[in-house]
Amino acid sequence: MASSEFQPLQGMSDICAPEIYLWQMMEERARTVFNAYGFDELRTPVLEKLSVFQRSLGDTTDVVKKEMYSFKPSKHEIAMRPEGTAGAIRHLAGRGEEGLNARVFYIAPMFRYERPQAGRKRQFHQVGVEATGDPSPLADAECIALQKSLLDAWGLTGSKIRISTRGEPSDRKPVADGLRQALQPHVDELCEDCRRRLDENVLRVIDCKNEGCGRIVEQIPSPIEFMSDASRAYLDQVMQALETMGIEVAFNPRLIRGLDYYVHTVWEISHSALGAQDALAGGGRYAIALGKKAVQGVGFAVGFERTIMALEACGITAGQFEPAGGVWLVAVGDKALMENMKLARSLRERGIRCGMELEAKSMKAQLRKAGRSGARTVLIRGDEELEKGTAVVKNLVEGSQQEMNLEEAIRNA
Ligand code: HAM
Repeated sequence: MASSEFQPLQGMSDICAPEIYLWQMMEERARTVFNAYGFDELRTPVLEKLSVFQRSLGDTTDVVKKEMYSFKPSKHEIAMRPEGTAGAIRHLAGRGEEGLNARVFYIAPMFRYERPQAGRKRQFHQVGVEATGDPSPLADAECIALQKSLLDAWGLTGSKIRISTRGEPSDRKPVADGLRQALQPHVDELCEDCRRRLDENVLRVIDCKNEGCGRIVEQIPSPIEFMSDASRAYLDQVMQALETMGIEVAFNPRLIRGLDYYVHTVWEISHSALGAQDALAGGGRYAIALGKKAVQGVGFAVGFERTIMALEACGITAGQFEPAGGVWLVAVGDKALMENMKLARSLRERGIRCGMELEAKSMKAQLRKAGRSGARTVLIRGDEELEKGTAVVKNLVEGSQQEMNLEEAIRNA
């Protein structure tokens, strides 16, 4: 039988034990951090109308143009979410006044039809936040502080925050005109994608990964040089607040981010352990128009898969979060097997991880299974122990064995 029969689709993964324990740790700690910052969980559907993403992310972005899983089962074309912001804002815009001043977080799978490679999946997972309403630069700084608290709570060290600005919506035209003019003498040296971007979305030329384009971009003014004083002042205030809170960031005027909804502050967090796909998180302030409603907010998303790669490089691994070994019950004879069913139930009700063989098997077979289960302690009972109210306690870690009163045995489990 072809082994591919048991594989998930390309670019997608099954996440199972022991790795899942690292995911669970991240999710639990994320919830604790979000609670401290006053964010409530929001779960939106995986599927949305395609227009929700086209209007929010921008229909010339790579994500919308090339990477959406979309189909048309009925009247509307629908798509699997490639990110969490658009759906969250669709929901909040529908909630009226309250939604326009809200703080939500999500932990959810996202889907992008990209070419899979290390750190780039077709189904990946994000933990993200969106805070709507507050137009202050301090809200942006607070959001970055929250993201830093999250990475700290996971134990991640060595990450770097790069920050820049997209300016106000009124800066868009002067920035695009300025860049186009500066790039004009170099058109023939640009890659094919960038020649198209020149008309469509000239900002994206700035973060093109092509080396030749990179060299040209080095020679031209950065977008911020075409922005208004107000936009620069906004960024200054964000930077000042971050400095006051002791959060180190590097200003990088060539940071663009691939989504069109951004205004003012944008940032990305990278880690040297990640190689080519070195961004483990991204965020920024945005303005999204849905129907007659314009929603502004600030938020970020951290990718689980890339963060896990970085955590592993920091020596943080799933094994550290596996549940403690627990107890295995071994029965000698049918009566002990039934009594062990009762004992297992009472141990489990106390929250103790407990396993047992459900068929009458030899002691040797039961002990072998106990060893494989990862249990630290085995309680062995037969007719004689049942009569006396005792159990033989075998410590699998130390290899010791001792008969004890049942209650004492349970305390030792
Ligand atoms: P993004 O930069 O597109 O931003 O994605 C955020 C993170 O998701 C990335 O830094 C990366 O860790 C992870 N990610 C993205 N694509 C993939 C992939 N194909 N495979 C594995 N991981 C991936 C956003 O999605 C925005 N919604 C962030 C945001 C929220 N901005 C404001 N609010």
